[in-house]
Amino acid sequence: MSRIEKAIEKATEKASKLREIPAGQVSHAPAKPKVSRAGQRDRLLDVDPLPIDNPFLVAFNKDDVGAYEEYKKLKSLVVRMTRGDKFQNSFVVTSTVGSEGKSITALNLAMTLAQEYDHTVLLVDADLRKPSVHKYLGIEPKVGLVQCLNGEANLNDALIKTGIGKLVVLPAGGVVSNPVEQLSSDRMKNIITELKTRYPDRYVIVDTPPVLPFAEAQVLSSVVDGVLFVVREGSAKVGDVKEALGNLKDANLLGVVYNDSHIRPKGGKYYYY
Ligand SMILES: Nc1ncnc2c1ncn2[C@@H]1O[C@H](COP(=O)(O)OP(=O)(O)OP(=O)(O)O)[C@@H](O)[C@H]1O
Ligand SMILES: [Mg+2]
Repeated sequence: MSRIEKAIEKATEKASKLREIPAGQVSHAPAKPKVSRAGQRDRLLDVDPLPIDNPFLVAFNKDDVGAYEEYKKLKSLVVRMTRGDKFQNSFVVTSTVGSEGKSITALNLAMTLAQEYDHTVLLVDADLRKPSVHKYLGIEPKVGLVQCLNGEANLNDALIKTGIGKLVVLPAGGVVSNPVEQLSSDRMKNIITELKTRYPDRYVIVDTPPVLPFAEAQVLSSVVDGVLFVVREGSAKVGDVKEALGNLKDANLLGVVYNDSHIRPKGGKYYYY
């Protein structure tokens, strides 16, 4: 069995078997804002949570306790893997093809880390073809990564406090016609370096397009510390998954999140996610 097959098998055993949530089920009242304490970092808590109502953002709405538990397990694995002698705090989330659940995974993991781990977490929407983080969060930002890249805005203007733990978002800010050039530019490297080093113990999670059709994830994987790879059951073919992982062979593969699984666990009950 190849290394990749072993990685997939191992991740499949461990990874999420979260239950499906019927679409349109959730509508929640925003929680009370937390009280700000002194210091720059605690000002992150001093905003109302965004009015999120997407049922798949279980780390926010917590309506599906089982699903949230699975993200907590994922968070624990990520924390364990990223804490070494040197804190490896940045990683991209990608997949073989589109619609495998990259953005949902990135958001739920970012929220879980921000709420459960008391760390500052920065989620960057680096999908400059089909950005979606802002849509899932229910916001319409005027500036984001695109404007930081072309010099129209600086990072401080583009970062959005979510009010969800210490989660801050850098939205895409729009689409561009040349995303590979933009994301492989020195300016992008500087932005990632700036985000990584501003708070050394901050997690930086970068949502990207899929690997097989586009080059961005591969490009970005060389400027971050690792890759979290999402595989959605019944989506990409195994050969394509291997090819995509092959394209990322120079990157540090943290693991595979097996999404939307219909595996029957020992208890005999079906879980979906
Ligand atoms: N486990 C799941 N069960 C049911 N629906 C899911 C699951 N994961 C994701 N989805 C749904 O699949 C769609 C795609 O999810 P998402 O946007 O996270 O994928 P993506 O990989 O980021 O897509 P893209 O390649 O377009 O960026 C969304 O409608 C999302 O709600
Ligand atoms: Mg996406």
